[in-house]
Parts: sequence; C-alpha cells; structure tokens
Amino acid sequence: MNSWAAKVLTLFPDMFPGPLGYSLAGKALMDELWSLDAIDIRCFAGDKHQTVDDTPFGGGPGMVMRPDVMDRALDEVMSDLGDLRLPVLYMSPRGAPLTQARVRSLSAGQGVIVVCGRYEGLDERVIEAWQMEEVSLGDYVLSGGELAALGLMDACVRLIPGVMGSDESPEEESFEQGLLEYPHYTRPRTWCNRNVPEVLLSGHHERVRAWRQARAEEITRERRPDLWDRFAQDRDPSRH
Ligand code: ADE
Repeated sequence: MNSWAAKVLTLFPDMFPGPLGYSLAGKALMDELWSLDAIDIRCFAGDKHQTVDDTPFGGGPGMVMRPDVMDRALDEVMSDLGDLRLPVLYMSPRGAPLTQARVRSLSAGQGVIVVCGRYEGLDERVIEAWQMEEVSLGDYVLSGGELAALGLMDACVRLIPGVMGSDESPEEESFEQGLLEYPHYTRPRTWCNRNVPEVLLSGHHERVRAWRQARAEEITRERRPDLWDRFAQDRDPSRH
C-alpha cells in the first residue's frame, strides 16, 4: 500500500521537514508511514533571474507570486503523481479555519499537495484554475505559508495508523468529543503546597472518568463558548 504523501510547493524547501523530522512524525517519516517532498517553486521560473513574483496590478504594496510559475510547478507535481489525485491546499489567512474534522478527513485520504505563499500571496487566477482549497491556521498573519503547512501536516500525520503509540490514542483527546481537555497531573502528589485532586488518587475509575468529563465541560464553557454551544447542541439537538 502506498503511504500518505505530502507534496509541498515552497520558495524555502530547506524549511522541510524541519520539526516534522523529530519525535513521532520524524520516526514515522523514517519508517515510511508517510513521505514528504518539498518542491522549490523557483525551479519553475521562466527567466534567467529566476523571477517568481511581480508588482500587483492596480498598485499597492508588496509583490504577488506569478500564476504561470506556480502552474508549471503544479503541473510537474501532478505528472509525478500519475493517477493519484490529491487535494490542492493553499495556506492562507483568508481560508476556512482548519478543524480537527478536516484534519481527520485529510489524514484518512492518500495525502495532500500544499502550496505555500510568500509576499502578498498568489495571483488569484491560479487559485481558481487549480480549485485550491484555502486553509487558515487562525486569525493572525504568518510571514508565509510554510509554518502553517507544517502545522497542518503535523496534525494529519499523527492520526495515520501506527504513528501514535497505543497509549497515546487520539480518541480521548481534545476536540474528538468537541471539548477541550481536562487537566492532567503527575508526581509529586504535593508540589509548592498544591495537591493533586483527591479523586485522581482514589483508584475509582468511574469517579475519575466523571470528574474528567465535568472538568472538560467546565473548561470548555469558560474558555470557548463557541465550542460549548456546538457541543451542547450536538448532545441535545432539541435545544437551540
Ligand atoms: N499564511 C499566512 N498566515 C496564515 C495563516 N494564518 N494560516 C494559514 N496560512 C497563512
């Protein structure tokens, strides 16, 4: 079976695998549970100066990445993939905010092509022509798509079967239920006059489970009313 494939188009291929070369993702990369190719967009420039960007029509600050250069880079990636059809994602603060549900579906697929912009971003026509899915990591602006691409791929790779150990299973964690995580504690039992909650020392599994669920709900209600409303709605669809 072919492993999950990530193809990243970037002006800074040396940024990859970067942090994804470490820990669980790094081990899985070595074990070929997934693959990563960073493709240098500059190799597809058409002139001797290897120009990839130009000034915006209509004026204004910054530079825009040329559609023809990006198109050639994508053509090459597609021809390397043969019959394999992967979604083309464009990392951009204008995109749909990435959710755990989208991560789950991307991770369950065969891989992703991730386009990283720099400067003011890509010419709109190449976004349209390739029907790119714009994806945002949050409502703030990074200096380029590379860090966002690393974040997205990390979230996907850890869900590939065999990447996480069985004691680090994703089922229990944040967002899988639509709630933030309950608090965690370890030794020492008392630290700086702070005690571990008594119930966690009780050995009573049902009481521990109920306490964790209640804390997860409380933390979500306090910190993320948006998530809380959705959770409450899903639990009790008659409520609105
Ligand atoms: N590129 C620049 N900022 C970004 C963001 N917030 N999310 C995704 N890609 C980006």
